[in-house]
Parts: sequence; C-alpha cells; structure tokens
Amino acid sequence: MRRILLVSGLIGLLFGISNVHAAGPSGHIEDISFSYEGPFGTFEPEQLQRGLVVYQEVCAACHGLKYVPFRTLGDKGGLDLTEAAVKTFARNFEIYDEELEDFRSALPTDNFPANDTVGAPDLSLITKARSGFHGPEGTGLAQLFKGIGGPEYVYSLLTGYTGKEKEESGNLLYENTAFSGGYINMAPPLVDDLIEFADGTPSTVEGMAEDVTAFLVWAAEPKMMARKQMGFVSVSLLILLSILLYLTNKKIWAPIKHRTRAED
Ligand code: HEC
Repeated sequence: MRRILLVSGLIGLLFGISNVHAAGPSGHIEDISFSYEGPFGTFEPEQLQRGLVVYQEVCAACHGLKYVPFRTLGDKGGLDLTEAAVKTFARNFEIYDEELEDFRSALPTDNFPANDTVGAPDLSLITKARSGFHGPEGTGLAQLFKGIGGPEYVYSLLTGYTGKEKEESGNLLYENTAFSGGYINMAPPLVDDLIEFADGTPSTVEGMAEDVTAFLVWAAEPKMMARKQMGFVSVSLLILLSILLYLTNKKIWAPIKHRTRAED
C-alpha cells in the first residue's frame, strides 16, 4: 500500500514538474547578457537609474510596484541614489495615510503605489513570475544553463511588437512575438526617442527595454549582490575546509598505510 502511494506520488510530482515547464509563454525569447548575470556579475547603478526613469515615465501609468519601498533606491549594490535624492523622489508621490485619514506626500519609508486602473499586473516581482526558456522540447533543460529567463521574457515582450493589431470583443489587441497566444492587451509602451536621459544615453526601444528590465530584476531581488557575495565567501570557506580535511585525513592514516606496506 505504502509503495503504491509512493509511486503515485512520484508520478504526480513528475507530471507536476513537466506541467510547470510546459506552462507559460511559448513565443520568441531573446537571450540577453545582462551585467548582473553569472557568479560575479553586478548591477550597473547607471542602468538601473535609467530603468527607474523608464518605469516612472512610461510603465507607472498602468503598472504598480507596490512591494518596493522608496528607501531601497538608496541601497548600495543597487541604484545607489543619495539620501536626498530618495527623499525628493518619494515626495513626488501622494499616498493615503490611514492614520491621518488623509493624503500626504510619500516618505522614503513608503512603498511605490499600486496601480489597478487598467488591470495590468504589478511589476514588483514580474521578472520572477515569468519564465523564458522552456526548451528543448518543453523539458526546461535550457534553464539549467541559461537561467529561468524571466528578465529575457520581459525584454522580449517589450521589443516583440510586430505592429499588427486586431479587435476582439471591443478590446484592441497587439501582436507580440513573445506573448503566449500572440496578441497582448498592452499597447507598445516604448518608441525610439521617448525619453531624454540625463546621462545622454540615446533612447532606443532596445536600450530602454534592457534598462527597465534590469531595474525590474533589481526590484524583484534587491539583495542579489549581497547574496552573491555571501555565496562566494561560503564556497571559498568550504573549499578551504575540504583541503584541510583532505590533508588531515592523509596525516591521520599515514602511519597505518606505512605499516601495512612495511609488513608486506
Ligand atoms: C497603457 C497602459 C500600459 C503601459 C503604459 C504599460 N503596460 Fe504593461 N501591461 C498593460 C496591460 C493592460 C497588461 C495586461 C495585458 C494582457 O494580459 O493582455 C500589461 C502586461 C504587462 C506585462 C505582463 C505580460 C504577461 O506575461 O502577462 C509586463 C511584463 C508588462 N506589461 C511590462 C510593462 C513595462 C515594462 C512597461 C513600461 C515600459 C509597461 N508594461 C507599460 C498595460 C500597460
């Protein structure tokens, strides 16, 4: 009886896993090499800052970022804004304070506002909530080498518009090569020369898409740099420990190995 349960559990698990891989978008996903990839990759503060501008000037009209506190914009290893800049940025927002029972301008301790006006998903965790690589043959093995591909999916979505539109039950849908089903209810948000960046970076659709995607990756995992650093230290210590254990083992057994050989 127990064996039957075990086997059926395993089968269920296998199906569950393969279903996860099979679900989600099946469109064209471009593999981008972002600066934060790999064990030693880091976020580029300038890129994240441009991404914040793109989010704020374009995406925020429809999408919220409700799990991200303004104060984290000042974190080292992230956007690295000064305390004064964070305060000034937060002050642009009006939020409803339940204690005051009134609106007030936001403080660094507040979060970015939510935005449910057009039914667009919150972007705080979107790079973690989507996946890009499902191949080969839907096995998901590519994810072992390329990563899950959430960021690549977001980039490919932003750059994947073909320009074709269709109307369905009164909604205008836009053809997009990355979106599952091929048509998305989001008008192409980016066009060339949309934004004038303070650092003089030309504003192309691809550039803005990459910057805002990097920003959203940071939003979903602001402590990525600290995590990688911790991982590096832990693995180095474990390697050191392994070497010491190997040498200790050699030393402990040396007399005994010696004796056997001498008696032969
Ligand atoms: C005019 C409103 C509007 C703007 C501006 C906008 N979006 Fe959207 N977005 C939507 C809507 C509506 C959806 C839901 C579309 C659907 O499910 O068909 C959506 C969906 C998405 C999705 C999820 C797609 C999926 O797989 O479900 C992502 C990612 C996204 N938007 C990113 C962005 C980014 C990044 C920007 C800024 C560069 C942006 N959007 C600007 C309205 C907007």
